[in-house]
Amino acid sequence: MVRLHSPLAVSLSAAVALALAPAAPNAARAESAPGRGPTVIAEHGMVVAQEAIAARIGADILRRGGNAIDAAVATGFAMAVTYPRAGNLGGGGFMVIHRAGGGDTTIDYRETAPAAINAQSFLDAEGNADPQKSRESPLAIGVPGTVAGLALAEAKYGSGKFSLADLIAPAIALARDGIAVADDTADSLPIDRPRLARWPASAAIFLKTDGSPLAEGDRLVQTDLADTLAAIAKDGPQAFYAGPVAQKLAAAVQAAGGVMTVDDLKNYRAIERAPVRGSYRGYDIVSMAPPSSGGVALIEMLNILEGYDLARADAGEALFLMTEAMKRAYADRAWFLGDPDIVHVPVEQLIAKRYGAQWRATIDPLHATPADEIRPGAGMIAAEGRNTTHFSISDQFGNAVANTYTLNFSYGVGLVAAGTGVLLNNELDDFAAKANTPNAYGLLGFAANAPGPGKRPLSSMTPTILLRDGKPYLVTGSPGGGRIINAVLQVIVNVIDRGLDIAGAVSAPRVYEQWKPDQVFAEPELAGDLIAALEARGDKVVAQRQPTSANSILVTPAGFAGAADPRTRGALAAGY
Ligand code: DON
Repeated sequence: MVRLHSPLAVSLSAAVALALAPAAPNAARAESAPGRGPTVIAEHGMVVAQEAIAARIGADILRRGGNAIDAAVATGFAMAVTYPRAGNLGGGGFMVIHRAGGGDTTIDYRETAPAAINAQSFLDAEGNADPQKSRESPLAIGVPGTVAGLALAEAKYGSGKFSLADLIAPAIALARDGIAVADDTADSLPIDRPRLARWPASAAIFLKTDGSPLAEGDRLVQTDLADTLAAIAKDGPQAFYAGPVAQKLAAAVQAAGGVMTVDDLKNYRAIERAPVRGSYRGYDIVSMAPPSSGGVALIEMLNILEGYDLARADAGEALFLMTEAMKRAYADRAWFLGDPDIVHVPVEQLIAKRYGAQWRATIDPLHATPADEIRPGAGMIAAEGRNTTHFSISDQFGNAVANTYTLNFSYGVGLVAAGTGVLLNNELDDFAAKANTPNAYGLLGFAANAPGPGKRPLSSMTPTILLRDGKPYLVTGSPGGGRIINAVLQVIVNVIDRGLDIAGAVSAPRVYEQWKPDQVFAEPELAGDLIAALEARGDKVVAQRQPTSANSILVTPAGFAGAADPRTRGALAAGY
């Protein structure tokens, strides 16, 4: 059944079409108009991603009988080619998996700090945080996790119908044949041109000979990346973490002044972790555990909010209560959260219902609590002190995948390792370079998130699956740095408390509050009476557009309802 069916405009090259053969069962294709995202309903399976070609590749894997994990791996490799500002081989991320018949799990493929990184690495001579080092220099490059993570997901939870090589094949063809630069890449390349122009290997791919960026319709050909992908297809992830590719990656980083070595690459491991679990008004929440802060902060906020009848509250009051919950969870995020393999993170305490109630007792429904009066730990502890991409997938078997991965900034640090086609991240800015000093997203951190060798920097990525009676109900997540957790919270509240359909829940204007700075950032489209409700209670509201993109799926009686976030030009819900 297809509710909304835009005319078929398949933009796959002939080689990709070949790679995807044999043809899928005879099911109608359901797609949103790219970037405009009304709800799209599909009967059998759905991929909602920030880039259309990759979304269609994932949907075709589903049509051919693949499961959601197969589709996620194919989409993830494809986006490394088709969405270079955030899709990646040179970054990392998190995948939350719901398996039909039970068993939720997550793959942590977050980057790690090279062995030579320590608590002083991102300070200047005076001991102050040096953003240049943690954001713009190759010192910021974490050991990439994506190849290990996608390969681990496929090996453990793929359907077995496809080899890793089958799932990488479309990406290889797209990299080798080239794609026409479209929408979001055309929008972002001019902005990041100066950062890419610093490195000849990056310029050779993304800029023209006169130094101007590739523009809409120009061909983006990535031959070295095709070779790297082909090596992974042939020999598995070790082709990336050892041998010639690893040597080129380490050599390029070191030549540019960074510290990543072949040993760092050899020692990288993706880790399967238990998800964090919570509940909200009868729905089970399955989300990402540390080293992402997303799941813990999301469940904390939902626990606080569960004590209020948001569905019946005045809309302004409901929004205010949400921003108060955000402040408190983000204060805890800053203080307590870090890499759980290196620091103790009190996850169970933070996600307990009674802890939410403790926080709730500190909220005055008529007055905003100033950020400085919010002490992490609900008052029990005296505190001392740009770009990512998300896709959601559901399959006919009852599996679901929420995957968020990133290079941190758009195009990461801007460095393509010569001879590999791999753009490298600047993820290490997600550490607190110095205690109580904001990172690029204005997020504070303390000792728990200090830089250290082999450590994973704290993330805000929040790939999340809500279950009803043990079955996927909502699959969601978003890019947006520190705003991610806020965005995911609002999609959930919009669906469960406000009863919006998925397109409405995804596109509704959002607010973002992260404890400090002591401000509520509101998208410019937010209704004036809602802003007035916050201001009347003492909040400082700042209008600001935010790069979130909550590409989500709601499972409805009519089928899989997908919504591509209209905040990203080119996002697509592709189902069948
Ligand atoms: O892991 C994190 O939280 C960040 N590195 C994510 C960066 C991001 O979402 C940028 N996108 N707009």
